[in-house]
Amino acid sequence: MERSDTAGWADGLAFERISGFRRVLKSGVFHPMANYLPAGLLRWLLRVTESELAAANWTDPGGWKSMVISYDGKPRQIADKVLVSAGTMSMALRNRRRLGAGVLARLIDETATGPAHVLCLGAGPGHIISDALLQARQPSHATLVDLSSDAFDYGRSLAERLGLTDRMRFVQGDVRDVADLLGPQQVDLVKMLGICEYLPDDVVVTIARAVHAVMPVGSSVVFNSLTPAHGTDRFFRRVLGLHMIHRDASDLRALMGQAGFGNFTTLAEPLGVYEVIIGRK
Ligand SMILES: C[S@@+](CC[C@H](N)C(=O)[O-])C[C@H]1O[C@@H](n2cnc3c(N)ncnc32)[C@H](O)[C@@H]1O
Repeated sequence: MERSDTAGWADGLAFERISGFRRVLKSGVFHPMANYLPAGLLRWLLRVTESELAAANWTDPGGWKSMVISYDGKPRQIADKVLVSAGTMSMALRNRRRLGAGVLARLIDETATGPAHVLCLGAGPGHIISDALLQARQPSHATLVDLSSDAFDYGRSLAERLGLTDRMRFVQGDVRDVADLLGPQQVDLVKMLGICEYLPDDVVVTIARAVHAVMPVGSSVVFNSLTPAHGTDRFFRRVLGLHMIHRDASDLRALMGQAGFGNFTTLAEPLGVYEVIIGRK
């Protein structure tokens, strides 16, 4: 079942938007250039302009560093200024962060029992969950799981800067092993933002089943869809080596449904690239 009472979840969030004129310019000029100019030429341009965003993707496609560059929004190199400040994907990522953090904070506040424990899968350094822990009014703490030890070095200093050291626990591991990593502890809320687009269907379902088993009835999982509305998938694949799996909200609800989740609420960010979806056990 899909809930339609989405009003209220995104109230007051300062989303980034694109004017009609810029949309036309992007789809008529910039996106075709990015998608169809020779990949070798574009890679050369990004190399000579010392793009940190491109270098981060070449080292670790879709990794946490490229995400942090987009989140920070203040790159030093000229190519990155264009990609990060005006690129639809980077704007949509920042919108997803705002929407995801707002949703998680509200779900933390709705948790009936004790301090809420949030499990974050493929968490990176933890920008979204740290935003949510700070926004929520109820006591809460989080366990972050990620493959990357670098992400956690950065995440620990982020937690320290924000005064969240005692509320964020970092567990290095593969989210495919979430059942073993977790043990019997109770989880009140699960965050799977920014991870499903890197995992095939069967893995998404296996992970969702594992977390479903340790969640109380009525608790929520928060995840996101990804549509090709950013307009530059061909550029990401050919030039950055980034291969993301696009699934719309109904595809993802169906996968989460196989794991036992239902009663979904689907919230779109205004660029139409991401939807943040809440599923209930
Ligand atoms: C694009 S980043 C997203 C970070 C964060 N979720 C966010 O949205 O800000 C994807 C993260 O997923 C992690 N990741 C990818 N596959 C993973 C796996 N199988 N197990 C654990 N982490 C994984 C990567 O190391 C990376 O930090």
